[in-house]
Amino acid sequence: MSPDAFTRECAAFGWADPVATEYPPDDQPAMHAHDFDATVLVLEGELQMTFEDRVEVLAPGEKCVVAAGTQHSEQTGAAGARGLLATRANRTAAAGGGPKAAEGSTVDGATVEEVSEAYDGVAELYAELFLNQLDHVEIDRNLIRSFADRVGPGARVLDAGCGPGHVTAHLDHLGLDAVGVDSAAAMIGIGQREFRRAPSRLAICGRSRLPMPRFTE
Ligand SMILES: C[S@@+](CC[C@H](N)C(=O)[O-])C[C@H]1O[C@@H](n2cnc3c(N)ncnc32)[C@H](O)[C@@H]1O
Repeated sequence: MSPDAFTRECAAFGWADPVATEYPPDDQPAMHAHDFDATVLVLEGELQMTFEDRVEVLAPGEKCVVAAGTQHSEQTGAAGARGLLATRANRTAAAGGGPKAAEGSTVDGATVEEVSEAYDGVAELYAELFLNQLDHVEIDRNLIRSFADRVGPGARVLDAGCGPGHVTAHLDHLGLDAVGVDSAAAMIGIGQREFRRAPSRLAICGRSRLPMPRFTE
C-alpha cells in the first residue's frame, strides 16, 4: 500500500491523520497495550510486530492494525524502521462492550443503516483498494478454492456483505451458483458496473432481510 492510499484509508475509516514515526535500531520494547486502536504502515526498514499468539514481520508497504487492549511489542533490527502511524479511539469500548452489545446492531453498536451509509461513503476507495485483491493475494484465492472444492460445483452460496462483489464474481468463476448481497447501495452499484456479466447476482439487501428463505433458515 502506498502512503497516499494509507492516508486516504485512515481518513475514510475514522483514524486521526497519520504521523511520521521513527523506530530506533535494535529496539526490543516490553510487551504492552494501548487504550486506543493503532495502525502502522512501514515505509523503510522492517518492523517485527510480536503479539501473544503470533509474530508479523512488516516490510515497506505493509501495514497492521493493533486493536486497543492488545498486548504487543514493535521490534526492529540493526537498520531500524520508519513508518506512518495513526490512532483512533477504542471503538469497541465506546460502544459498550463489542459486537454483541445491542440487539439489532453490528460492530461498534451502529445500526445497519449507519454501517451502509459509512460504506456508501467509501465505496469507490474500497473498490480501488480491494477490487483486484484476489489477483495479488494467493492465500485468499487458495482459501476460496478450497471452499469451492468443499461445497462442490454448482452449489448455491451466499456472499453476505459482498461489498463490490469481487469474491462473488470469483466464486461464480469457480463454477458455484454465487449470490452476493450488501446493504450499501454504492458497493452493489460498483459491483454491477464491474461485473456486468452477472449483474443479477448482486443485490442491495441487509443480512437480516434476505429474500431467499434457504439462506435465512
Ligand atoms: C469489510 S466489507 C467486506 C466486503 C467484501 N466481503 C470483501 O471481502 O472485500 C463489509 C461489507 O459488509 C457490508 N455489510 C455490513 N453489515 C451488513 C449487513 N447487516 N447486511 C448486509 N451487508 C452488510 C458493508 O456494506 C460492506 O460492504
